[in-house]
Amino acid sequence: MKKIRLAILISGRGSNMEALIQACAQPDFPAEAAIVISNRPDAGGIEKAEAAGIKTAIVDHRQYQSRAAFEAVLQETILKFAPVDLVCLAGFMRVLTPGFVNLWEDRMINIHPSLLPDYKGLDTHARVLADGKTETGCTVHYVVPEMDDGPVIVQRRVPVLAGDTPDTLATRILAEEHGAYIEAVRIIAARLQG
Ligand code: GRF
Repeated sequence: MKKIRLAILISGRGSNMEALIQACAQPDFPAEAAIVISNRPDAGGIEKAEAAGIKTAIVDHRQYQSRAAFEAVLQETILKFAPVDLVCLAGFMRVLTPGFVNLWEDRMINIHPSLLPDYKGLDTHARVLADGKTETGCTVHYVVPEMDDGPVIVQRRVPVLAGDTPDTLATRILAEEHGAYIEAVRIIAARLQG
């Protein structure tokens, strides 16, 4: 089996990235982690990736005058680890321009902590609680120019329980995110290999 090669983009603690790296370490998983890139030099995920023996790079958005300049270096960095079959946004907190998104059409996915198309954007858990919802979850989707939009690949649901806070809800959803992301990569690998 030829594994597809992933570029994993992060901005923070990188627990989804870690779940993907662990999955990639399994001989029968259809993907390998080619590179982990953070736009923040202090992202905790970078140390975790290095500890797992994965190559890492920092492309600090604050060093560039424009989004286009930042994205040009981001693209260059990804291509240094070519072939890259799939870009995985895993807690990557920069809005990407249509120019960059189109370079990776059908080859870039994201995870969002809500049941899209509901609750796009930030502070999803607080908004879910304020609306009195009884169910929420997470979504892995293809990235399109509109934020938190694009075809859904995997969705997992969790209940909202009495007494939940944004933090308890975030923790319950995060546990599902990891499995959802791994499942989505399997699905896409099958599509790309088929
Ligand atoms: C996750 O909740 C993800 O859905 C959102 O950002 C968070 C990243 O967490 N996009 P981690 O860095 O993967 O731990």
